[in-house]
Amino acid sequence: MCGIVGYIGHRPAYPYLIEGLKKLEYRGYDSAGIALHFGNSLKVFKKAGKVAALEELMNGLEQSTNIGIGHTRWATHGAPSDRNAHPHISRSGKLTMVHNGIIENYAALKEELLKKGYTFHSDTDSEVLLNFIEDIQLNNNCELEEAIRIALKRVTGAYVILLLSEEYPQTIFAARKGSPLVIGIGQGEHFLGSDASPMLGYTKEVVYINDYELAIIKPDELILKNLGNERLTPFVQKLDMELATIEKGGYEHFMLKEIHDQPEAIYDSLRGRLDATQHQLTLSGVDSIKDKLLAARRIIIVACGTSWHAGLLGEYLIEELCRINVEVEYASEFRYRNPVIDERDVIIAISQSGETADTLVALENAKSKGATIFGIVNVVGSSIARLSDAGAYTHAGPEIGVASTKAFTAQLAVLQLFALKLAQLKGSLDERITQELMQELSEVPQKVQHILDTQIDIIKKIASKYKDARDFLFLGRGYNFPIALEGALKLKEVSYIHAEGYPAAEMKHGPIALVDEQLPVVFVATKDRVHEKIVSNMQEIKARGGKLITIVTEDDHTASSLSDDCVQIPKAHEIIAPLLSTIPLQLLAYYIGIERGADVDKPRNLAKSVTVE
Ligand code: G6P
Repeated sequence: MCGIVGYIGHRPAYPYLIEGLKKLEYRGYDSAGIALHFGNSLKVFKKAGKVAALEELMNGLEQSTNIGIGHTRWATHGAPSDRNAHPHISRSGKLTMVHNGIIENYAALKEELLKKGYTFHSDTDSEVLLNFIEDIQLNNNCELEEAIRIALKRVTGAYVILLLSEEYPQTIFAARKGSPLVIGIGQGEHFLGSDASPMLGYTKEVVYINDYELAIIKPDELILKNLGNERLTPFVQKLDMELATIEKGGYEHFMLKEIHDQPEAIYDSLRGRLDATQHQLTLSGVDSIKDKLLAARRIIIVACGTSWHAGLLGEYLIEELCRINVEVEYASEFRYRNPVIDERDVIIAISQSGETADTLVALENAKSKGATIFGIVNVVGSSIARLSDAGAYTHAGPEIGVASTKAFTAQLAVLQLFALKLAQLKGSLDERITQELMQELSEVPQKVQHILDTQIDIIKKIASKYKDARDFLFLGRGYNFPIALEGALKLKEVSYIHAEGYPAAEMKHGPIALVDEQLPVVFVATKDRVHEKIVSNMQEIKARGGKLITIVTEDDHTASSLSDDCVQIPKAHEIIAPLLSTIPLQLLAYYIGIERGADVDKPRNLAKSVTVE
């Protein structure tokens, strides 16, 4: 997601800012910008595209100052463009700000400001916050830091902000909640960054700013306060990480980092859309094509790879909750087999990158025949997002590991929201069940965290035990069948072990011939309406000597006692459980890949974004 840098001190600010932005490129972004403080004036330079494009823009321009801030933006509110790029400038022109995060109540704040005659030059929530701060300072006639404190107490959401003010030529103001901010301490200078990578080589002493803290940073002084205006003592730490590790947030691989990102990625995908306490579901994309959806004779889900597995779960969900016929199609097949489509069809396109060629062309074909396209896409402004008539972004953040992990669970979360919202509009689901599912969905991020906190050592042992297997079988039924397919795909991708996913009962019609003492069989067998059936399937494998690795609900003693190895996940409604049962399978694939020395982040022959057919 967005990256932030800042410098104040005695050396030229620009080289630190531009090089720092390059070091943060790995986070993923679509535009970049810099603001410089020239003592009595502020200047902002910003550009859609790569940091290199910003650098080109800056060529030959006046840069000689020792204070500045910079930003790489990963679009959330508003398309990637020059005008939505940061830094933003306040109405008076006297304040400029960069922001990383999402201001959830920005619409209400914007409304207030519009009534007061403010106009906006971007679609961002960030520009709203900046003007909100300025408005408070003007109305209260107070110091800027006081205005920031008042504003931040009214804001909901996540942020790191850095502000420069014409009035304070020797100060950077910074605050955080939810998003990261590191301040490096030098001799008469300070370095700021979303992580420590920009300041490596300049300083080894850093302060990690905590939530609800405000930093007033001068060349030779770092004042830290809480939002109650009490002074805090900065906790200075020694930096002993290598650059490569920091970029991965301290994890050895992007894949592992992204597996661990999932509580946040799922939370971000639900945030502002699901309010379980108020029993509210907001999905404006669904509202905008409500009539089409309610009249649809069927929904067709089109996707590739991992996104196709999310689509398969989508079929189960939408058919059950909304009572609409759903078909799931591999985009590469769909585009070439002249499917029967007309204006009564709604197509859900699922894609992390939003650029997968087969999916894109399949959608263009369907659109030309009159179908309505609803996109579930991670990359804002991507081709599939632009082609869609409506949609809901997954807010998983940039996914760098080629094997998809957090984008998948974010897709599942958005599909859950989609199905619940459509069921509400159709009146196809009992309100009490809707509320129960909303409550359960809101609990998913903490349950995923619980799995990450408690099951990793168990999974590592399983990985080491079975790392030399030649084949794996993954079995599941009902809502866990798509998860079994995804588990097999993940293992294949990152360990190069042959793995097959199958419906657990269908296993009797073929794969059971493979079972012997050498074959590990992974059962995704959380408690659901077919649980007793899948326990019987486990018995069938066990009777033939197969090794049982099971993903079960905690306290399920029957299934766990049958298992050779067992991973336990928290209790959840069967519709919600796939969001949990997929986590151990990602970890299993990762650790087996590591045991076998595979390049888990960039598996051989695979590409992150498949833009050829
Ligand atoms: C590639 C990636 C997969 C991904 C698939 C579909 O094969 O390696 O991780 O699931 O493309 O990509 P999309 O961006 O459309 O979700």
